[in-house]
Amino acid sequence: MTDPLYLDPDAAVADRVADLLSRMTLPEKVGQMLQLPAHQGLRELVEEMHVGSILHTPPAALAEAAALAAQTRLRIPLLVAEDCIHGHSFWRGATIFPTQLGMAATWDPGLAERVARVTAVEASATGIHWTFSPVLCIARDLRWGRVSETFGEDPFLIGEFAAAMVRGYQGDGLSDPTAILACAKHFAGYSETQGGRDASEADISRRKLRSWFLPPFERVTREGCRTFMLGYQSMDGVPITVNSWLLDEVLRGEWGYTGTLVTDWDNVGRMVWQQRVYADHTEAAAAAVKAGNDMVMTTPQFFAGAQDAVAKGLLDEADVDAAVARILTLKFELGLFEDPRAPRDTAVIGSAAHLDLALEVARKSLVLLTNDGTLPLAATGEKTIAVIGPNADDAQTQLGDWAGSSGQADWLTDGQPREMIETVLDGFRAVVPPSWTVTHERGADILTVGVDPEGTHFPDGQPRPEVVIPSPPDDALIDAAVAAAEAADYVVAVVGDRIELIGEGRSTATLDLVGGQIALLDALAATGTPMVVVVIASKPLVLPPSALNAAAIVYAFNPGMRGGRAVAELALGLIEPAGRLPITFARHVGQLPVYYNQIPGQHGTRYADLTQTPAFAFGDGLSYTTVEYGDLRVSTPVVSTDGTVRAEVTVTNTGDRPAIETVQIYVRDTVTSVTWAEKELKGYRQVSVAPGEAVTVPIELPVAACTLVDATGRRIVEPGAFDLLVGPSSRDEVLLRATFTVAT
Ligand code: NOJ
Repeated sequence: MTDPLYLDPDAAVADRVADLLSRMTLPEKVGQMLQLPAHQGLRELVEEMHVGSILHTPPAALAEAAALAAQTRLRIPLLVAEDCIHGHSFWRGATIFPTQLGMAATWDPGLAERVARVTAVEASATGIHWTFSPVLCIARDLRWGRVSETFGEDPFLIGEFAAAMVRGYQGDGLSDPTAILACAKHFAGYSETQGGRDASEADISRRKLRSWFLPPFERVTREGCRTFMLGYQSMDGVPITVNSWLLDEVLRGEWGYTGTLVTDWDNVGRMVWQQRVYADHTEAAAAAVKAGNDMVMTTPQFFAGAQDAVAKGLLDEADVDAAVARILTLKFELGLFEDPRAPRDTAVIGSAAHLDLALEVARKSLVLLTNDGTLPLAATGEKTIAVIGPNADDAQTQLGDWAGSSGQADWLTDGQPREMIETVLDGFRAVVPPSWTVTHERGADILTVGVDPEGTHFPDGQPRPEVVIPSPPDDALIDAAVAAAEAADYVVAVVGDRIELIGEGRSTATLDLVGGQIALLDALAATGTPMVVVVIASKPLVLPPSALNAAAIVYAFNPGMRGGRAVAELALGLIEPAGRLPITFARHVGQLPVYYNQIPGQHGTRYADLTQTPAFAFGDGLSYTTVEYGDLRVSTPVVSTDGTVRAEVTVTNTGDRPAIETVQIYVRDTVTSVTWAEKELKGYRQVSVAPGEAVTVPIELPVAACTLVDATGRRIVEPGAFDLLVGPSSRDEVLLRATFTVAT
């Protein structure tokens, strides 16, 4: 047996944890619970504050961090965490994939699992052990700045994608050196903002949480997700950090979660300086630990505060021990005491195979929203195509948030290497027939920025985002764009948003195209040259009539490094459109919220001055062919609560191009003991249907999925009549209906 026991790789993890804990001083234990940014003072963090984890570590400091930890008294390795959100975000030359919202538009969780696997392979090679991904928040208010980080609005789809990413990150288990810890965030209800404002108090009851917001998290608990991150908000007066109902009763109690909980950024401090529910960091630290938080992110005052709380009897050292034990368990299970997984050979990063996957995901993520038949462009003869717009050739903007120069890392201010990114302009230049000419004009600017009138920094020292100043339409830019359009056979107008309108603390009051973009589209439309509008954006925007009436609209939720090529391939018909919306689009910001699974009971169905129907609905997306659904038949008209509904539907490709069809399966419980969603997505099948072919798609739906949350908060199946709704989108008018009965 090795002495000390905790260094014996053959000893049981629980024994190693107990042995190590018994050797640790209180400062070492409290430090172990701390996670601090490593961009400055690394030596002090490790040697004086005994931190258990670091985040946002500049690449050059990763090896140093491992070496410093190896020299400490107990040689406890660091857990190195990073926001690898859609790829190894801040590693120069890493593969950047479409955002989560883009991935969700593929409706193909298998792709997301492969993305997460590749991300884990790239991140683990650089000494990262833990990614703060995936995001399981439900995006219902489109003004929120973090919509692009989500899988959209549907709890079922979110659960499917989140589970897939957890599997991908954690690989074959933590002992696999390419595995990294996944982190389900932000637990829970953070996205239910007021007015879309980030981290505002969420008006959300426990029953509402159980109905929509908790199921994806419960799903990843079953998937073995090893860490959870809390949100920022408070609910019903209780900051999430001290919501012991959620953390203890539900997560650790009902769901049996044994993993580790990390707060979000300075959550413990925010309870003092922002939410003002504790007088000082001593009280806040005691409350956070007692509520079950293990790792405290970026509240350096926790170090003194927690020790003070123990000294004053506000906090039991046993509570600290329980948290530290969970952190150490992770470190032992990752095998970090034997191999701290310091940076190793990074040749795999940005490899051709990884970039091929980025292209595959981008291709499937594009959503064709309208098309008058102009697409696909006929690849014949001599043509001129004018690729116009502020997002046509803006490489870093195409990547979106949490990538390269998006602002969270100060070591990659120039962003990802330009040569790794294929913009829409690059894409067209690469894939048009040799006889075609591609021209380009920017046509409009989107915005500039200025200092927030309230100052450059928040009270906790964090920088305030700069304030957006929309750029006015520029006549010279528009004139040049119009001239290019008039000289072309087709216009591809590439518009959207930019990083200054995206992210934490960057919610938007409107959803309109900002700056000179609407004037540009109006001017281009007036030329009469057929115009394809490509939107590269973080979230659903409200498009002007000149876009809605254009020949076609292709929507690309920040499609990653190879997204521009995918757009060009789609336009030229080299691939089939396959994406479907994971989120509903509003016609006007005043329609919010517009998510599809709303509760019935309102008076009427519209506003006096505007319809309530969305611009584009959840599940929408066109093909280059026509597809008909027919003959929905249920073979199990009466099922028991533990049974399975079986049905079939026939999907026929009535056009002359192949279809990649997403057959969507919704359920409506016709009479419920409480008000409940109009309909809910319960499953889907992706099928390829050749031109002229008819495919019979089998549907199997466990009755256990047909639940609601009753007035007491229990999730149950209520016997009675149900509608099975099957079709190409969530819109009632395109769904076939059959019925089944759940017997008592
Ligand atoms: C705050 C964000 O809310 C969270 O998503 C992120 O993982 C952490 N900062 C760390 O960067």
